[in-house]
Amino acid sequence: MPQFTKTLVTTALPYANGPVHLGHLAGVYLPADLYVRYKRLKGEDVIHIGGSDEHGVPITITAEKEGIAPRDVVDRYHRMNHEAFLKCGISFDYYGRTTSGVHHKTAQEFFTEIEQKGIFVKKTEKLFFDRKAERFLSDRYVTGTCPICNNTEANGDQCEQCGTHLSPLELINPKSKLSDATPELRETMHWYFPLGRFQEELERYVHRHDLQTMPREDIENDPYSIWRPNVVNYTRTWLKQGLKDRAITRDLAWGIKVPLENEEAAGKVLYVWFDAVLGYISFTREWAEQQGDPEAWKRYWQDGKSRIVQFIGKDNVVFHTLMLPAILMAWNEASQSGCYNLADNVPASEFMTFEGRKFSKSRNYAVYLGEFLETFPADTLRYSIAMNYPENKDTDFSWQDFQNRTNGELADTLGNFIKRSVDFTNSRFDGQVPHACTPEEWNALGIDWQESLEQLDLAYEGFHFREAASLGMDIARAANRFLTVSEPWKVIKIERDAAARTMALSLNLCHALSIALFPVIPETCNRIHAMLGFGERIEELVTPGKSLLAELLSPGLKRGHKISGKSEILFTKIEESDIAPELAKIEGLVAEAEKREAGAEQQKMEFKPLISFDDFLKVDLRVGRVIAAEKVQKAAKLLKLQLQVGSVTKQVLAGIAKYYSPEEMVGKNVVIVANLAERTIRDDVSEGMILAVEGADGKLFVVEPEGNEINGRQIQ
Ligand code: MF3
Ligand code: ZN
Repeated sequence: MPQFTKTLVTTALPYANGPVHLGHLAGVYLPADLYVRYKRLKGEDVIHIGGSDEHGVPITITAEKEGIAPRDVVDRYHRMNHEAFLKCGISFDYYGRTTSGVHHKTAQEFFTEIEQKGIFVKKTEKLFFDRKAERFLSDRYVTGTCPICNNTEANGDQCEQCGTHLSPLELINPKSKLSDATPELRETMHWYFPLGRFQEELERYVHRHDLQTMPREDIENDPYSIWRPNVVNYTRTWLKQGLKDRAITRDLAWGIKVPLENEEAAGKVLYVWFDAVLGYISFTREWAEQQGDPEAWKRYWQDGKSRIVQFIGKDNVVFHTLMLPAILMAWNEASQSGCYNLADNVPASEFMTFEGRKFSKSRNYAVYLGEFLETFPADTLRYSIAMNYPENKDTDFSWQDFQNRTNGELADTLGNFIKRSVDFTNSRFDGQVPHACTPEEWNALGIDWQESLEQLDLAYEGFHFREAASLGMDIARAANRFLTVSEPWKVIKIERDAAARTMALSLNLCHALSIALFPVIPETCNRIHAMLGFGERIEELVTPGKSLLAELLSPGLKRGHKISGKSEILFTKIEESDIAPELAKIEGLVAEAEKREAGAEQQKMEFKPLISFDDFLKVDLRVGRVIAAEKVQKAAKLLKLQLQVGSVTKQVLAGIAKYYSPEEMVGKNVVIVANLAERTIRDDVSEGMILAVEGADGKLFVVEPEGNEINGRQIQ
């Protein structure tokens, strides 16, 4: 078990394909910032590396839609997101972009190294090719009819209507999104990364971080390297299924060129995930260069005493616990040029919903970070989000909660306490700390400082950010109560010295709060610090190896210390009228979504083209009885049904697993299209379809005919 002396913190690289919203902030960037700010306060060696993910097909689709170059798309959103993060106080040490020269070089270096070691597998496969556009079509560029639900606008990777994951080859009537042409199958060769080759090594890696399997002494010595259950579960599920070869190249123009000068590599780029996960390394290199110490990145990536912590959302888990580690393992094999450390922890968040609904870029249902900060200050957002951090379950952001926390906790508790302390000192004690606090008085406040610090440490180091923020607010509550109960404004008339002692303690509490809450609300804490008469910002006081938090153990402000003589209102209360437009906006968005859904309904009323009576008679509809039903492995939507139709049995795969359990289906009478040509879905045969109707909420209802002795009968 290494003794870590430094920490590299990374945050998932958001696609530069749209503005980041509050969900991103809550899951990844704010928790990471709380963590690094806390470590800096402790005087630890820590850097935070992030940046934009600027490759990938969605970016080229946006560019095509807008008639601009992919470059313009990523320039726009890289700048926008970086600015929003800065405005929110996310303190990156470096914020890079995967289109940079250093990154292209790094990713190509990895490709070449692994290629030369003979680890990649090359495979030729048939992919759709658009002859008009002269391009191979990646999954997202193909559309067609879903084989499960007959949605005519299913995407090549997934049907949005029934949620089934598809491959473009499964689509009925595939079409190219580029030209509307029917694409043809063409052979193309790609490089595959054989994840399976690293299966055992990866299992050992997970083993070392899974609470159920890791060595006892590690649990005791370093509980912070224990992975969250969700991270272990996602990873173990993949490992259990057996790791497969993953294609790591694509036939695309936008991306990092496969670094080989031959026919095979022509027109091919690295798969976006292969390049993106290496961005963390490239950006640390760029950071080091900027520091004027080009080798400094190695201290974080290649020195065993460095702890790597990667903040991500739950949808990114396996890329960080399997894919990146496997790439690094491949590099490390008999490496001539340094070995990379694997992440020690990968705190993946659950999701944050917004007013009870999922954030959705495509439906434009979101509050974007930059937009939010135009109206409300960053610290109010940081605090509310920290208090709702989706650590182990999805949480919700609501305007009501935001207003309550800002008004009740930040303004009435913290802000009020600070202002009363400072104003009273200014008006009655000439703006000076009027007394010397003794350690006994400090410890008699009802706050166990030693224990508070230990709890704070456990909360931050263990990635429990809701708790961390609450602990800070608990101190503010205790302080506010102390001042209210002590009533110096009354006491001063009888016993000036007692009031002076109260104010000395209060000012010291202000000082303690400015440090304890600094990771959560840094701007506010700096303002408190300035009101207390300090010229420098709190981050400027950071000294390697010395914890500023230790100052909480004894009162730090000496008698006679001059405070600034001015006070400010730290938080403006949020009025109903401030959030009313926001609530109206949500209503608008929801109404729009509903209208669109209703519109889709209407469209369905446009009947299909007329068919002749003879055509209709061709369809053989029969009553069947479900005699057996089971779930289909790896196809969450599908039930495999055995139907008794008169004297024959037929097997049907139906996309109803979300709505009916296998047990519920057994015994039901259903209507089957009995003369439908056989189809293979997920390596299994389906010999017909059963009739069902979609309800308002998308739920499917199987049509259940009634009658006596109807099995096998034709529907007429
Ligand atoms: N761009 C990806 C997303 O938004 C995350 C990439 S993380 C990285 O889901 F590790 F690949 F960079
Ligand atoms: Zn479908």
